[in-house]
Amino acid sequence: MTAKEYKNIIDSALEEYFKGALDMPLAGLAEAMRYSLLAGGKRIRPTLVLEFCRICGGDTDSALPVACAVEMLHTYSLIHDDLPCMDDDDLRRGRPTNHVVFGECTATLAGDALQAEAFGTILRCSLPADRRARCAAYLADAVGLDGMCGGQFLDMAGETKVLTEEQLSDINSRKTGALLIAACRMGVAAGGGSDEQLEAASLYGAAIGAAFQIRDDMLDVLGSEQELGKPIGSDRQEEKNTYMALLGAERCAQMIAKLTGRAKEVLQGRFDDSAFLCDLADSMAVRTN
Ligand code: IPE
Ligand code: IPE
Ligand code: MG
Ligand code: MG
Ligand code: MG
Repeated sequence: MTAKEYKNIIDSALEEYFKGALDMPLAGLAEAMRYSLLAGGKRIRPTLVLEFCRICGGDTDSALPVACAVEMLHTYSLIHDDLPCMDDDDLRRGRPTNHVVFGECTATLAGDALQAEAFGTILRCSLPADRRARCAAYLADAVGLDGMCGGQFLDMAGETKVLTEEQLSDINSRKTGALLIAACRMGVAAGGGSDEQLEAASLYGAAIGAAFQIRDDMLDVLGSEQELGKPIGSDRQEEKNTYMALLGAERCAQMIAKLTGRAKEVLQGRFDDSAFLCDLADSMAVRTN
């Protein structure tokens, strides 16, 4: 499967969610949820679920709801991240942000509902019960107090302060790394992989996760709004701590290269076919959106 093929499968599957609610009195909320969920996006996290499932010998069709769930969770995090009380951004995935279109109240609820639907989607899918439970637990661990929400809290608390590289790395591993790691782990769990494969997937996720946020920080300065689909200069405006501000573009590029090399290394000997994941790490290292 190519990255484009994965994206098409994921996009088509996501299209089916919350459709029924569009004819109900709560259509306004369903519309807001679908607006952000179907706005595009690279679909990296669900792709990781499906590919790890595949290389562990699992059935990717059965894992598709798990992949969609990760994207629902991620979309919720983006809707909330853009709110005026957080990063206060008005462009996402090339469109006005959720709160700009639907208002803050609906945007907040759309995020809340997407999070709940993510867990429901995993728990209701056709995988064996023990695999469903593991996927839900990995996701829960990644996005709560100790994971994405904790990271977002520290990110906000760090605004206008000067943090150390160690503190910044801790924030990034929580706010961004944790969900990427969880996506890899959920793929292994859905596919029935071994403990060794789970460990390798976690290390891969941690390395690409760290590189991913450094690249995101670079693009916030050096990217184009047109290509990125989100505003340039948001981090400086909010006085965020970023790798770009702390170390500059050259050191960022070096760190990304090193992390990408590590990501590819940890897969060696653990999976029969890691070519796709190696190419994915390489392409993420130089992404422009
Ligand atoms: C953006 O994630 C938020 C971060 C964690 C840096 P993506 O860059 O994966 O955003 P989409 O899903 O492609 O829009
Ligand atoms: C976001 O980090 C991490 C999330 C949990 C959504 P950023 O705030 O840098 O993400 P963008 O740049 O707005 O996508
Ligand atoms: Mg943010
Ligand atoms: Mg942001
Ligand atoms: Mg950013």
